[in-house]
Amino acid sequence: MSKNFKRTTITSALPYANGPIHIGHLAGVYVPADIYARYLRMRGEDVLFIGGSDEHGVPITIKARKEGITPQQVVDRYHYQIKESFETFGISFDIYSRTSAPIHHETASDFFKKLFETGKFIENTSQQYYDEDNNQFLADRYITGTCPHCGFERAYGDQCENCGTSLSPLELINPKSALSGNVPVLKDTTHWYLPLEDYEPWLTKWILEGHKDDWKANVYGQVKSWIDQGLKPRAVTRDLDWGVKVPIEGADGKVLYVWFDAPIGYISATKDWSAKTGKDWEPYWKSADTKLVHFIGKDNIVFHCIIFPVMLKAEGSYILPENVPANEFLNLENDKISTSRNWAVWLHEYLEDFPGKQDVLRYVLTANAPETKDNDFTWKDFQARNNNELLAIYGNFVNRTLVLTQKYFNSQVPERGELDEISKTALEEMARYPEIISAAIERYRFREALSELMNLARLGNKYLTEMEPWKLIKTDEEKVKVILNVSLQIVANLSVLSEPFLPFSAKKLQEMIDLTGLLWKDAGGDNLLKPGHQLQQPDFLFARIEDEEVEKQVQKLLDTKKENQNAAPAKPAKEPIEFEDLMKMDIRTGTILEAEKVPKTKKLLKLKIDTGIDQRTVVSGIAEFYEPEDIIGHKVSILVNLAPRKLKGIDSQGMILMAEDKDGKLCFVSPTEDFNNGSEIK
Ligand code: 2FM
Ligand code: ZN
Repeated sequence: MSKNFKRTTITSALPYANGPIHIGHLAGVYVPADIYARYLRMRGEDVLFIGGSDEHGVPITIKARKEGITPQQVVDRYHYQIKESFETFGISFDIYSRTSAPIHHETASDFFKKLFETGKFIENTSQQYYDEDNNQFLADRYITGTCPHCGFERAYGDQCENCGTSLSPLELINPKSALSGNVPVLKDTTHWYLPLEDYEPWLTKWILEGHKDDWKANVYGQVKSWIDQGLKPRAVTRDLDWGVKVPIEGADGKVLYVWFDAPIGYISATKDWSAKTGKDWEPYWKSADTKLVHFIGKDNIVFHCIIFPVMLKAEGSYILPENVPANEFLNLENDKISTSRNWAVWLHEYLEDFPGKQDVLRYVLTANAPETKDNDFTWKDFQARNNNELLAIYGNFVNRTLVLTQKYFNSQVPERGELDEISKTALEEMARYPEIISAAIERYRFREALSELMNLARLGNKYLTEMEPWKLIKTDEEKVKVILNVSLQIVANLSVLSEPFLPFSAKKLQEMIDLTGLLWKDAGGDNLLKPGHQLQQPDFLFARIEDEEVEKQVQKLLDTKKENQNAAPAKPAKEPIEFEDLMKMDIRTGTILEAEKVPKTKKLLKLKIDTGIDQRTVVSGIAEFYEPEDIIGHKVSILVNLAPRKLKGIDSQGMILMAEDKDGKLCFVSPTEDFNNGSEIK
């Protein structure tokens, strides 16, 4: 179903202005969106790439309250920081706007009014949780409790962050006010609801039937499961004082739900752009020949594939998204990225620690993008991809070609005489890459596209290595001219095709070969650098990243882990037990006689313990923390009357008592004096 579109509106999820940008945001949304925008621009298409800060919602007001400042002060702080880090990182937004701007309040307000006036809402009075100490209704994240779906105890009133289910406050088990910790009371309040269920047949036809083949499986699957479960009316207003005021009479103290106003933020940002550039905004949102694409993370799928489209449909004058290429999540060193636990690589810190290395991060995040499943970012992988791929493959090929041309031909592109078979094939293969890369980008497969770009660099390396111009220069200068001319054409092609992915390096390379302003359609050409063309002084495109640099970053994360553990409150006490229960436990002092790793496991050690009563085998999960030979002779405390259990086929007879230290390491709870083995611990 390929349509003839005249322009493309690309939106990228508006980040909440309550914290800085991290690599998870970049890999999930902004890097792929930027590659797509840059690519389409290079195709000469009319593109509008939109970004902006999402400045409403409860977390922002909670943060303001905690810090004793206003919500506006919170969003001002982060909006400018985010905007600047995106700019430095090279995310090529046409506009980076914000939802606290007057143009947004006006646009969102008008949108609501139109739906209200045309009878698209249901008005409903219901009981909602209210905190009597604070005289406030408890919307969304002002209320926490246990998730009815997965049992997670810190689920919010709008969503469980553990299982991703979208919730309403009344579904929470054991609800508590996030303001006071009190159990809230129920009180009547009136709100406006979007009857999503009325749009079910339409959504089924539009997405489930119409986009089965072109939407990503993860996106399609989530939408299908939402629709299959049956849609329900969704409240689009809240009892809060921070947000876009509900623009109708009798709605004092109420604002639009943040997820109602935020996506309208894409439209307001377009108007903001229009005011700044003098261009008409409407075609980008209202012309059937505009392709609308939303780049988001997977937690935003329902809002962009169901709720916002229903809003647009209900309003009636807007186009709908053609695709929503949502990504999965990126983890960091095997742990979920978390702003509150400071478990992240922050963009502004990266830019400070690795100045001029924007493309390295862009490369790593694209090569390892969580396109079809969650992926993991590690600093080791970051270093390896820079040193073994960017530097060893791409940088090396470009550098060899330019240095040899400088050495043999004073940096002038040599004439290319008769082509031998190998050179001919190399040029033919090269000419296929623009199409291969385009096809991958147009299907939102950016990892694949980037790996094909690297294959072009590999092609160049292989060609040079095979032809060995350095051996021929004394005997066959004409052949060397062919080889370097062909290699230079590959370099020139790389400089064009890299632009969407590695914009900084592409620019530097284009300056080095003095070839700027080419478009995608020029790529594939085998005479982009004409004979006699003067190249500039070659310089390295990429630098080695040394062990110390990544070790520093890993240390930073270890420090964070430590801080988190120190800050973590002790777990609450378990249910009380009776004295008799305690008396049932028989804990003794003992000595480790033997220790060995349990084969094929990471965590288990098989220990032989002298308990004073006997010598017995215990399997203990401490192999990550101790080498067997280091603990022989160690005094331990052991529960000796625990019923034996089989672990990995070994009978484990008892349990060694351990406690976690501040770094999360398990340590022996050992007698400090010199007791005999078998002494009772009471
Ligand atoms: O999940 C988020 O970070 C939201 N602030 C995304 C909003 S996207 C759009 F609707 F504005
Ligand atoms: Zn849950």
